[in-house]
Amino acid sequence: MFGKRGTGEAPKIDQGAAQKPSPAPTGPAGGADARASEPAKTAPTPVSPETAPAPKEAEERSEDYYEIKTTIFNTLIDTINLAQLAQLDPESAREEIRDIVNEIIAIKNVVMSISEQEDLLQDICNDVLGYGPLEPLLARDDIADIMVNGANRVFIEVAGRIQLTKTRFRDNAQLMNICQRIVSQVGRRVDESSPICDARLQDGSRVNVIAPPLALDGPTLTIRKFKKDKLKMSDLVNFGSISPEGAEVLEVIGACRCNVLISGGTGSGKTTLLNCLTGFIEEDERVITAEDAAELQLQQPHVVRLETRPPNLEGQGEVTMRDLVKNCLRMRPERIIVGEVRGPEAFDLLQAMNTGHDGSMGTLHANSPREALSRVESMITMGGYNLPSKTIREMIVGSIDVIIQAARLRDGSRRITNVTEVIGMEGDVIITQDLFIYDIDGDDESGRVLGKHRSTGIARPKFWDRARYYGLHKKLALALEKAEA
Ligand SMILES: Nc1ncnc2c1ncn2[C@@H]1O[C@H](COP(=O)(O)OP(=O)(O)OP(=O)(O)O)[C@@H](O)[C@H]1O
Ligand SMILES: [Mg+2]
Repeated sequence: MFGKRGTGEAPKIDQGAAQKPSPAPTGPAGGADARASEPAKTAPTPVSPETAPAPKEAEERSEDYYEIKTTIFNTLIDTINLAQLAQLDPESAREEIRDIVNEIIAIKNVVMSISEQEDLLQDICNDVLGYGPLEPLLARDDIADIMVNGANRVFIEVAGRIQLTKTRFRDNAQLMNICQRIVSQVGRRVDESSPICDARLQDGSRVNVIAPPLALDGPTLTIRKFKKDKLKMSDLVNFGSISPEGAEVLEVIGACRCNVLISGGTGSGKTTLLNCLTGFIEEDERVITAEDAAELQLQQPHVVRLETRPPNLEGQGEVTMRDLVKNCLRMRPERIIVGEVRGPEAFDLLQAMNTGHDGSMGTLHANSPREALSRVESMITMGGYNLPSKTIREMIVGSIDVIIQAARLRDGSRRITNVTEVIGMEGDVIITQDLFIYDIDGDDESGRVLGKHRSTGIARPKFWDRARYYGLHKKLALALEKAEA
């Protein structure tokens, strides 16, 4: 019942594409729920949250509301000329739909209050032109993640906490249709035969869709909302994610070209932190970024951005992170930034780090700096390199200077919990030393985690000479001194 690739025409990314309906993709059309997917047929470009009127937050609606909406929606689809609608720009299309819906309400004698009618108009416009019930959530800037588990369960993460919303979809078919709209914008497809898909919204938000039969309770959609105004180091200090002195040390680490790994759990703020660190890169450095979905926003003028590509339906054309990192090396980079290291590219990144590309950085999933090191080691081992583990460890020690650990604490707050240096080997063991750690002192009465960052008292980190080379040693000494006081 899912995957009506035949019924949904892909709305195009550029506004101009809305002017001419493009041919429907191949595949069987229709089906029992053809109606539900109908609006996508000739839907113009979805209205971006910035241009659309701010949609109202979903409220708990009665069954009656949904019934009325379905009736009106179906009548609208019968009445409206979708081909003509597709010719209009989003604003006029919205006007057109509103006029017709108002007429239908009058003809059908539906009794509604003015505010209910306004909500209904808004909902229907969102369904036909945009991402339906997702629109109000997409328009909110305070949401970090949107998680849709089938038509009736939509969760959001706000201020570090996950909450269930009242948003719901008409049925799984509508949800699937919206998923298809999203992924078709980046030229991909999601259906029973290829039920996993990554995509991006026009505003840069990262999207993952996994559909039945793999997802048992209906299409499952996860959106990491793109923050237009990325958090800066000063924001992290204001939020208490790092102490002011810690931030200064991070600034020195970023500026004096230490090789950095940012480690942390899912959604702990790794990418945000990486983005902050890139802020300390000099304007004249040639930086190459490689990501699965471009999230970083470097401000420097000399940046080349690369993105991986999944295989096509025939399983061809894949470009992996490893391919990108290898290619980076031929592009005369000064720094290589890898959005997320999760496989054999770890080897290439380490090689880049100890062959003159100082100041390279990457993030990875791990729960402590120690675990980050063993993750790197196992990524290299699993990549099929037949190297003794001591050699791999020596390579790690020779390339990584600093590991920064990010964590999302149980109260939802995000903290940098360790700034750790990799200093050498003793026998077979990698030796690290913490420069900063976050001490947790318990909870306050509202359940917020209390704690503070403290320096471990190390006055001369291993990268001291490097800092001196870049003329940053005084700043470093001062920050470490202040942190101890
Ligand atoms: N220190 C912070 N304080 C408050 N919010 C933060 C902080 N760091 C990140 N965030 C927010 O948390 C969300 C997740 O951040 P981010 O994308 O950096 O996490 P991530 O660890 O890279 O996640 P993933 O593992 O999914 O890649 C974003 O909305 C971001 O704005
Ligand atoms: Mg990330």
